Amino acid sequence: MAYRHIEVRANETGFGAEIKGLDLSAPLAAQTLEEVKRAWAEHGVVWFPDQPLELEALERFTEEIGPFGHDPFIKPMADHPHVLELRREPDEKATNFGAGWHSDWSFQETPPAATLLHSKVVPPKGGDTLYADCTRAYEALSPAMKELLAPLNAVHSAILPYSKKGIFAQEKEKRTMQIITSDEAEKTQAHPLVRTHPVTGRKALYVSPVYTVGIEGMSNEESQWLLGGLYQHMTKPEFIYRHKWRENMLVMWDNRSTLHFAEGGYDGYLRVMHRTTVAGEKPL
Ligand code: SIN
Repeated sequence: MAYRHIEVRANETGFGAEIKGLDLSAPLAAQTLEEVKRAWAEHGVVWFPDQPLELEALERFTEEIGPFGHDPFIKPMADHPHVLELRREPDEKATNFGAGWHSDWSFQETPPAATLLHSKVVPPKGGDTLYADCTRAYEALSPAMKELLAPLNAVHSAILPYSKKGIFAQEKEKRTMQIITSDEAEKTQAHPLVRTHPVTGRKALYVSPVYTVGIEGMSNEESQWLLGGLYQHMTKPEFIYRHKWRENMLVMWDNRSTLHFAEGGYDGYLRVMHRTTVAGEKPL
């Protein structure tokens, strides 16, 4: 179906699209908003250039997409409980936040449908965000592999990054972002390994090296063997979109059909982003 109220320029693969002709600092008309949501579901990642948004405008647009999600383990901005500031100072040596393939908070019972990331300060080099298309990665599998994966549930947990013995708890270098490690991170949550998108009806692989800790009914060795193969497949160049930031860009991605990875590579430069999430449904 064509778009009548927005200008959508999709990448050749269909994964990732730029949306132009909008001013997100003001509320969108109902039909415009409906088309934005359709483009987001269809293309997985959408970006809106030239949007110098105040925090209040980012919050308001997020709520137009849907109710805020719950963002654990990271201290939000003062007076803005639903906004995280992803800030890395020029002298920071700690690994940049988000430097591993993941779908946001997939260890929750109802993980966020959308994440919105707004660029405030963009370094002159590095700092790209990579997105993996988990729908086309699933569709490219053989019928035999699809049949093997169909009944499986993957187990998700925040233990690796956010537990008291996790990566953030162990790091030695100073970090500007305030990460709150917790025993809560050890909880687990099972989700279908292949989930069906509630809007498009398309199936997607729903596992990631950061948050998936195993597969129900399989030994650890078997789980890691199968998951490792899936990660290699999902992150093949043909499924990746590399996003290059400019200041005042808003990117909105669909956590139900994508993974993302913050690449880093900007030591010596400031990078500041503001991030919100939109609540999602139980993966089916
Ligand atoms: C993230 O949300 O995982 C970080 C993305 C980024 O900073 O590019």
